[in-house]
Amino acid sequence: METTFISTSYEETREIAKKFADKLEKGTTICLYGELAAGKTTFTQGIGQALGIDRLVSPTFLIMRQYPVTNHPVIKTLFHLDLYRLNSIEDIKAFDVEEIWSDPESLLIIEWPEKFKEYLPKTRYDIFFKANGENEREIKIHEHK
Ligand SMILES: Nc1ncnc2c1ncn2[C@@H]1O[C@H](COP(=O)(O)OP(=O)(O)O)[C@@H](O)[C@H]1O
Ligand SMILES: [Mg+2]
Repeated sequence: METTFISTSYEETREIAKKFADKLEKGTTICLYGELAAGKTTFTQGIGQALGIDRLVSPTFLIMRQYPVTNHPVIKTLFHLDLYRLNSIEDIKAFDVEEIWSDPESLLIIEWPEKFKEYLPKTRYDIFFKANGENEREIKIHEHK
């Protein structure tokens, strides 16, 4: 199933993300595609907000950040992974991603997933971001069951 949204502001992107996150019943993998400044981290912040995480910052230099979740019946931890700086499958494996994406208590959000396309789990959401000018973003959500 595919759904497309048009966001005209940073706040609207966070709102779209919050509504999307409110429907998550358990942990899954969410892959965010798009150029720099397309809105991937903004969207992740909206998901974080829905899960009671107020201060979620880009993990670029740390590669992965994790946050405890206390307001969801199943999800206990949000993992935010930014693959921008990684170049080999071995490097991502070192973050125990297979264990994370097979655990319903863990929600994994990945920026720059296209770097490891072959390796990603089959069950996931692919979300594509496209900038149409300064403040408009097209957000396409595709669920792979
Ligand atoms: N509609 C919009 N949705 C999201 N971000 C927007 C929007 N319009 C402008 N922006 C700006 O674009 C940038 C998005 O940055 P960020 O979410 O960090 O992108 P990415 O993680 O894809 O590199 C921010 O500076 C934000 O203020
Ligand atoms: Mg980012």
